[in-house]
Amino acid sequence: MAYIQFRDNGEKIEGTEDLLPFLNTQDVIYEKWGVERLNGHLKENYALTDEEKAAIINAFREEIDELSARRGYQTEDIIVLSDQTPNLDALLDKFKEEHHHTDDEVRFCVDGHGIFTLKSKDGRYFDVVMEPGDLISVPAYTRHWFTLCDDRKIKCIRIFVTPAGWEAIYEENTAAQ
Ligand SMILES: [Fe+2]
Repeated sequence: MAYIQFRDNGEKIEGTEDLLPFLNTQDVIYEKWGVERLNGHLKENYALTDEEKAAIINAFREEIDELSARRGYQTEDIIVLSDQTPNLDALLDKFKEEHHHTDDEVRFCVDGHGIFTLKSKDGRYFDVVMEPGDLISVPAYTRHWFTLCDDRKIKCIRIFVTPAGWEAIYEENTAAQ
């Protein structure tokens, strides 16, 4: 279960009943998809073949298609980050730079953990700490960055509108609405 923590005063929001109303005010989608359907090999393996990646995506096909139809998303892939990833620290340095995109950034955490830090509509930064089974969207134009947790690994399904809409824009007022 994801939880939220505000960076300015440490206030924490836990539990779906409290999380969802706040996330709704930020236009952030939160869903929980069951990861118990994956066998241990697909869930815990961080050196996935293309066939294994496709098998994971297929295991969530129904939920992906339903969300994509609702939100206009068109494609998906898997990103795997762990100590086996070449240049992990260089990648993480890049992910922790604040940026936004012109489309939603949607992530479903299959295994591991990660933190999306988002800038709220009233300018407060908050961490969304994700665990396996959590899906969140970072809305288009919402400033954010990403970091790993102590386990330094995550396996995520990424759901996109178009690759162009997913490019990171680092300057806050570039391509604003
Ligand atoms: Fe991003």
